[in-house]
Amino acid sequence: MWREHMITYFNGQLLPKESVHISPDDRGFVFADGVYEVIHVYRGQLFATEQHLRRLANSLSEVRIAWPDIQRLPAIARELVKVNGLDQSDGLVYVQITRGVAPRLHPFPDESVPPTVYATASPVEPVPEHWERGIKVILVPDIRWGRCDIKSLALLSNVLAAQEAKERGADEAIFVRDGVITEGARTNVAAVVDGVLVTHPRDHRILPGITRNVVLELCQHLGIPVRESPLAVIDLPRVEELMILGTTKEVTPVVRVDEITIGDGLPGPIAQRLERAYRDLIGAL
Ligand code: PDD
Repeated sequence: MWREHMITYFNGQLLPKESVHISPDDRGFVFADGVYEVIHVYRGQLFATEQHLRRLANSLSEVRIAWPDIQRLPAIARELVKVNGLDQSDGLVYVQITRGVAPRLHPFPDESVPPTVYATASPVEPVPEHWERGIKVILVPDIRWGRCDIKSLALLSNVLAAQEAKERGADEAIFVRDGVITEGARTNVAAVVDGVLVTHPRDHRILPGITRNVVLELCQHLGIPVRESPLAVIDLPRVEELMILGTTKEVTPVVRVDEITIGDGLPGPIAQRLERAYRDLIGAL
């Protein structure tokens, strides 16, 4: 939920959002030259912090931005949760790091230019009818760059896809590259085929989602077989279940893809088991 007034973190300080002034020369603004993370907060507790921290460290290293204070992120996030009164609530911590402020030249600025670091904690409201009834998604061409494994700020293709989904009355857009489902505009995708959970292999075509990881671990505990292999769009009509996985959408069953009804048009048993197991994990935080 967007909040106009909140305490944010900006370059080492806690500041009211209205006091944060980001330069128009910031490379995040000019080039989308930066990376980000989103961490779910449940009843004031951060979920899967270590995994988010590892992925952020990887994104930073892949784009060669140095943020020496990265290990302080959990403490910063907890502080933001506290000062924004979210210690008993559900919310999202957002952090973005850009290559700092410098004249607009494509190559990196001098190493002495510090990164810009901005983080927020804001409340979220769950949408229970999504889990109960399942959602509708659309398929769109995956026109993104070749390093979707990096959690880059440059999200124009994802933004356009999500907007198209909204305009067509759907809740998520799913990217298709070379006839294969890669992932959603802001989620990973998993299907159930012959009782096996199938999800795109972890490579440069998808973001290695933390929710995807957690769900793969849950499958192991629950004895649900998993195959990390591409799912072709032409196989969609014989898919028993489909779901999207992500920090903001958690485990959400998909019941319709464009004009194709998945299974009997209701959330399937495996999605429901995974969703319950995910809730149990959150409950144990
Ligand atoms: N999106 N794929 C893409 C393209 C994403 O942007 C995200 C997350 C995921 C799921 O990853 P995770 O389970 O770690 O959240 C997959 C975030 C939440 C966002 O942009 O808001």
